[in-house]
Amino acid sequence: MYKESTNVVVKHLVNRLRDVRTASSEFRATIEEISRIIASEALSDFPTISQNITTWQGSLDVDVIEVQKLVLVPILRAGEPMLTGILKTLPYARSGFLAMKRDEETAKSRLFYENIPNLDGKTVLLLDPMVATGGSLIDSIDYLKNNGAKKIISLNVLGSPFGVKRVQEAHPDVDIYIAQIDERLDENNYIRPGLGDAGDRAFNTAN
Ligand code: PRP
Ligand code: URA
Repeated sequence: MYKESTNVVVKHLVNRLRDVRTASSEFRATIEEISRIIASEALSDFPTISQNITTWQGSLDVDVIEVQKLVLVPILRAGEPMLTGILKTLPYARSGFLAMKRDEETAKSRLFYENIPNLDGKTVLLLDPMVATGGSLIDSIDYLKNNGAKKIISLNVLGSPFGVKRVQEAHPDVDIYIAQIDERLDENNYIRPGLGDAGDRAFNTAN
């Protein structure tokens, strides 16, 4: 299934990303904030465990998210600010990394680095702001499934209708939580209206 956010705060933040005056530091901070909101939507019914803590009035059993069951995996580069944002909410979550680069002529992605912890029995939160053709996401999900992930939840900021449909068709068991699905994929495989190249915007490498 996919769930596009209906939260007006999320839409407001996405529109800040579209504005070319939003410089890279604010761009990354905005991606962090959107990611924390959509992660909390995605994890709203995630399993909890009881933990005993010491409060100002003494011992108390409380329910906490079972972070040991979770692995955060950003697709670098553009997924990095998503990881930074979610780690502020869940600082003890484990992380793994996939680095992919899309060939801008063919739009095919290539995996060039991976460092993934043991995924047996884990839920992966897969983090990539952009779903254009969907190729990077499909290949990453293939990789994570082949490495034992029990469940995969994809968190994304902007998608094209084409890319989101393609991911769903390839991996119907993966839940997609996305801030906004835009109008279309253009002839250069960019999302329209979109925000440009998310990696370049985040890391100031457009020119
Ligand atoms: C961008 C983006 C996605 C991918 C989406 O990354 O962050 O990973 O393109 O396109 P797709 O759905 O057609 O595969 P890019 O390969 O440009 O690398 P970057 O993060 O280093 O900028
Ligand atoms: N990658 C991006 O960062 N933006 C797009 O529109 C497509 C792929």
